[in-house]
Parts: sequence; C-alpha cells; structure tokens
Amino acid sequence: MDVYLAPMTREYMHELFQDFVYDPDIFQDLSLYEQIKNSGYDSKRVDALFDSRSGKEDRRSFAVMLGDRVIGEVELKRIDPKEKTCTLSIHLQNDAVKNKGYGTQAERLAIAYAFDALGVDHILADSVEKNRRSQHVLEKLGFICYNAKNGFKLYRLDKREGE
Ligand SMILES: CC(C)(COP(=O)(O)OP(=O)(O)OC[C@H]1O[C@@H](n2cnc3c(N)ncnc32)[C@H](O)[C@@H]1OP(=O)(O)O)[C@@H](O)C(=O)NCCC(=O)NCCS
Repeated sequence: MDVYLAPMTREYMHELFQDFVYDPDIFQDLSLYEQIKNSGYDSKRVDALFDSRSGKEDRRSFAVMLGDRVIGEVELKRIDPKEKTCTLSIHLQNDAVKNKGYGTQAERLAIAYAFDALGVDHILADSVEKNRRSQHVLEKLGFICYNAKNGFKLYRLDKREGE
C-alpha cells in the first residue's frame, strides 16, 4: 500500500504522538535524547505543539497516512516565496513503519508539493551526520550534500528544467 499526505490536524497529531518513539539518529546531542526518550504521550504538549504551528504562513505540515492510519509527519518549513525556498523535515512514528519505503514515498510527495504547489525552485534539508538512513533517502531523491557543519550535513535539491 502507498502512503499519501493529508494536511495535519489536531486529531492526526494526537494519533501520531500516541505511539511516537523518538529516533536517536535525529539527536546530535545524545543527552537530549536521553532526557526525552521516555517522556511518553502528553496530550497537553501535543495541543501546544499543534497550536504553535497553526496559522504559520511559512510552514505546511502534513500527516503521512497509510490507509486511515497516521504513520508520520512531513513538513515544509521556512517557506520563503521571495527566495523560492523551503526546508523539508520528516519523522515517521516508530521503527514498525521505518525501512518499508514509506519515508521515501512521503518525501517524494512533499517534494512534488513544494515544487508544484508552493512554487519553490529549491528545497533544503539537513541531517545529523550519523543519520545515514536519512542521508541515503535524501540522496536517492536527488538531494546533494553541499556542506557539513556542527555535526549536520546540509542538503539541497534544485528543481530541474521541465519538472
Ligand atoms: C529517515 C526516514 C524518514 C526514512 O524513511 P524510511 O521509510 O525509514 O526509509 P525507506 O524505507 O523509504 O528507505 C530506507 C533506505 O535507507 C536504507 N538504509 C536503512 N538503514 C540505513 C543505514 N543505516 N545506512 C544507510 N542506508 C540505510 C535502506 O536500505 C533503504 O534504501 P533503499 O531504498 O535504497 O533500499 C525514517 O527512517 C525516519 O523517520 N527516521 C527518523 C527521523 C529522521 O531521521 N528524520 C530525518 C531527519 S529530520
């Protein structure tokens, strides 16, 4: 089954975080991961997160859907119509849904949305250096690593002629 993207709602965000497990690979500072890894589902925190993102002109948040289940979120952040740029970010819910091709599919859909609906001409992304899986997926989709600093690899995907 293929995934699709749906605009993130409060309900979807609660569903996402009810079974969310933080991935150590997204933490450059592992002590932060140690602090947060057992924090569990906190409905007030999820509401606050949803509210903090709502109505932001420079951000689009999507639930990654598999059938009627939420299995992750993908966001286009720092949307800048003048510079024609935005930044891609993605988090699948837990290991049960990783390494099954869903992240690649979701990123591909987000890229199409960014180029077609937002009209950007390039997309940025970053990845903690140890996050080889994330880098592999970005590179598979055509992102080029153009710099590395402070423990992060910085990526860029340019819209190609005819796309
Ligand atoms: C990164 C992420 C979005 C990828 O999605 P996914 O569904 O797990 O990945 P896919 O199944 O689509 O693809 C995984 C690919 O990476 C490869 N891979 C898996 N582990 C790897 C590793 N340790 N090193 C290199 N490649 C790896 C797989 O073989 C597969 O490659 P292939 O498609 O060429 O066969 C997902 O794992 C995730 O949400 N991780 C936690 C959050 C995160 O890292 N977000 C990105 C940074 S903000």
